[in-house]
Amino acid sequence: MHDFLARLPKVELHLHIEGSLTPALMFELAAEQGIALPYATLEEVEAAYDFADLPAFLALYYQGMGVLNDESHFYRLAQDYFRRASADGVKHLELFFDPQAHLSRGVSLATQFAGLERACREAVKEFDITSALVPSFLRCHSAESARELFDALIPFESRFVGVGLDSAEIGNPPEKFTEVFQLAGERGWHRVAHAGEEGPAAYIRTALEVLGVERIDHGVRCLEDPALVAELAERRIPLTVCPLSNVALKVVERMDDHPLPKLIEAGLNITLNSDDPAYFGGGMLDNFIAVQQALDLSEAQWITLCRNAIDAAFPQRAEGLGMS
Ligand code: ADE
Ligand code: ZN
Repeated sequence: MHDFLARLPKVELHLHIEGSLTPALMFELAAEQGIALPYATLEEVEAAYDFADLPAFLALYYQGMGVLNDESHFYRLAQDYFRRASADGVKHLELFFDPQAHLSRGVSLATQFAGLERACREAVKEFDITSALVPSFLRCHSAESARELFDALIPFESRFVGVGLDSAEIGNPPEKFTEVFQLAGERGWHRVAHAGEEGPAAYIRTALEVLGVERIDHGVRCLEDPALVAELAERRIPLTVCPLSNVALKVVERMDDHPLPKLIEAGLNITLNSDDPAYFGGGMLDNFIAVQQALDLSEAQWITLCRNAIDAAFPQRAEGLGMS
């Protein structure tokens, strides 16, 4: 089964590129810039990556990305991930990034885009991976800050495929960002949002109804609302589920308890993804293997999961993946 899982052509739709920052690259970039890290060794980093919940993870995630300060840092970050994704059989990747978290350190949008785009361009030739960028609004920041980012993104709109919504979910419901998502829709930008990871099923409903999103990132808590499950299934709304992330952030206690089989049985349009692979114990193939060991899916179910991701990718980028 390992070879079967390794060979499956994979589309990854839920990957925060800052969450792919390995401790090794973090140390390298910090040393080059004379930045002091709160860790002396790689072992200390590993020990620190034991999270009580999403906010505990986010604190270290924002701290870690402090080493990303010029174009080459963003380039190296993404290139490093493309290399690992390619070894995992990833053929298409939609990358989230968090512009506000870098703008607040004085790193311009132009710098962020330039570094990420250079890696994306090279990945086509070097790793046979197509890709697209998805800048995301931080829900822990104000609606005004989101509006400022929206305005700043307009000159870059030919360079990304859509916008997302991430960061601390509880207390920051989707409707806080109604304005920017409406404006994004008017400009024809694709829209996705994290919902129902730590937050309640009601956030999934409002992300769909108020923000008009086309995919839900995570969404595992939809199972608490059967009427919502029926609607998600009926509309074939893709859920970008991230199993190792859910275990690492205690959304579920153990992989054996993961609701993936229930989500599949409910007829939902499920895709599997790695979220923040450097923090949660592995990339796409590690997620596939961990799921298989705990939940024992059939080959047909795996093929369906991979096909779902191909179909859920934003259309202009994911053609010709050879899954027919
Ligand atoms: N930002 C990076 N990873 C995230 C996650 N799993 N949930 C919310 N925001 C995030
Ligand atoms: Zn995420």
